[in-house]
Amino acid sequence: MLDIAFAKPALPKAGALVLPLAEGAALTGLAATLDAAMEGGLTRALEAAAFKGKKGQSATFWAPHAGITKLVVMGMGESPDAEKTGGSMIPLISGEAAAMVATDGLSAEQAASLAMGAALRSYRFDRYRTKEKAEDKPKLAKLTIGTAEAAAAKAAFAPMKAVVEGVFLTRDLVSEPANILTPVEFADRLKGLEKLGLDVEVLGPKEMKKLGFGALLGVAQGSINEPRMVVMKWHGSGRKKMDKPLCFIGKGVTFDTGGISIKPASGMEDMKWDMAGAGTVAGLMAALAGRKTRADVIGIVGLVENMPGHNAQRPGDVVTSASGQTIEVINTDAEGRLVLADVIHYAIEKFDPKFMVDLATLTGAIIVALGHEHAGLFANDEELAARITAAGNSVGEAAWRMPLGEAYDKQIKSDIADMKNVGGGRAGGSITAACFIQRFVQGYPWAHLDIAGTAWATKDSPTTPKGASAYGVRMLDRLVADHYEG
Ligand code: BES
Ligand code: MN
Ligand code: ZN
Repeated sequence: MLDIAFAKPALPKAGALVLPLAEGAALTGLAATLDAAMEGGLTRALEAAAFKGKKGQSATFWAPHAGITKLVVMGMGESPDAEKTGGSMIPLISGEAAAMVATDGLSAEQAASLAMGAALRSYRFDRYRTKEKAEDKPKLAKLTIGTAEAAAAKAAFAPMKAVVEGVFLTRDLVSEPANILTPVEFADRLKGLEKLGLDVEVLGPKEMKKLGFGALLGVAQGSINEPRMVVMKWHGSGRKKMDKPLCFIGKGVTFDTGGISIKPASGMEDMKWDMAGAGTVAGLMAALAGRKTRADVIGIVGLVENMPGHNAQRPGDVVTSASGQTIEVINTDAEGRLVLADVIHYAIEKFDPKFMVDLATLTGAIIVALGHEHAGLFANDEELAARITAAGNSVGEAAWRMPLGEAYDKQIKSDIADMKNVGGGRAGGSITAACFIQRFVQGYPWAHLDIAGTAWATKDSPTTPKGASAYGVRMLDRLVADHYEG
C-alpha cells in the first residue's frame, strides 16, 4: 500500500504539492504560504486558469516554486468530500515519487478520510504485467498529509488503514484469474489470515460429505479442482464464550462456466469474479481483525468451481442439501444458491448466529433491475435491512431493498423434490433466487446482498480504479462498527 504519513503542512522540497480548495474560498494555510513565497504567483496562476474551486475542477502547474515539481490545485466545491478528493487526486500525482497534500481547513477526521480515499484509489493489480516500462508505472510511493493535527489524524487513520487492507485483499482475490485462484489456493490464502489473529478452519470434500453438503458438492463434482469451505472466526467481544456471533457468508465460485447448462462464450471470462462474495467476506474479516473489532464475528465461504465434464451434475438431478431439503437442479448455472444453501445451514447449526448476511454474485437479473449503482438487498428483518442500507450509504456503497414473498417463492416449487433451483422463467430472477436462499435460513435474521452488478467496476471512480471494487467490505465493516461493538 501507498506509504502515508501525517505531518505539519510545509512546502515540500521535492515532488508534488496538492492543494484542495473549497469553492470561492480565499487562500489560507499552506496555499497562502506558497502564494507569498511566489510573490502572489499562485493567485495569478489560479486567475489565469479560471480556477474557481468547483467540484471536479483541477489545475496543474509545473515547477511553480523551488523544488516543487508539480502543483495540483483541486476544487472541492461548496461541500467538501475529503475521501473523494483524496481519491481523485491520485491519478493527477501518480507520476511523482512523493507528494504533500495540504488539508488546512479540514478536521483531523477529514484529513484521515482524505488519506483513505487516496489509499483506496492507489490500488493496482499488476502481478501479471511483466513488460510494463518503468515510466508507465505509477511512481507515487509516499504521500504526506499536511495537517496541523497530525497525531489526531494519524490515530483516526489507523482503523481506516485496516479497512483499506481488507479492501485490497478482496480486490486481489477477485482480480486473480481462475487458473491461479482455485478453491484450494483460495483456502490457502485465507489460512494466511491467521497472522491477524483470526482462527481459520478449512474443510475439504470429505468433511463436507460427512456434513451432508449434497448441494455444494453437486456443484463441485464437475471440476477437478476440489471444493473447500473456510470458516474464519474473530472473537473480539472479550466474553468467555462466543455468544450469537454475527455471521457473514460468501459465494465463492472460483469460475462459473454454467456447468452442463453452459454459458455463452461472450463475456464468460467475467466469471472469474464469481467468487466476489467470498472475496468480500475475506476482506471484511481481515478489516475487522485488523482494527480489532470488539464483536464476535464469523465469516464462512463456500469455494467451488462450476465446470461441465464427465462427472458434472446434470439438469434434472436431485440433490439433498445439508438441511435435509431436496433440490431439483433444473439449471446447473444457478449454482451459487446451491452453495449458499449448505453453508448457511452450517452457520446456523454451528454458531446460532445473531444474524446472517450473505453476499453473492448471484444473478444477472439484478443487473437488469438495478444496473451497477446499487446492490440488491433482500431481508427478512426490517432493522437489519435498515442498518445495512444506512451503513452502505455512509460509505458510498448503495443497496436497494427488493421484495420477497410467497407469490415469488411458489415459483420454485418442484414436482419431484422439495424445491427446484430456478423459477419458471426469467421474470423476477433475483427474487426467486433470494426466495431459494430464504428456505435455508430457518427464520434467523438474515439479509442477502446480490452483488453481481457492483462487484466489478468497468470504469474508474474517485476511490475505486476500474476492476474489482470490493463492494461490501466497507459497508459491512461500518455495520459492525455502528451497531455491534458495544
Ligand atoms: N454467477 C452468475 C450470475 C452473474 C451473471 C454474475 C452475470 C455476474 C454477472 C450465476 O451463477 C448465474 O449464472 N445465474 C443465472 C441464473 C439463472 C440460470 C436462473 C443467471 O443470472 O443467468
Ligand atoms: Mn451460474
Ligand atoms: Zn455463479
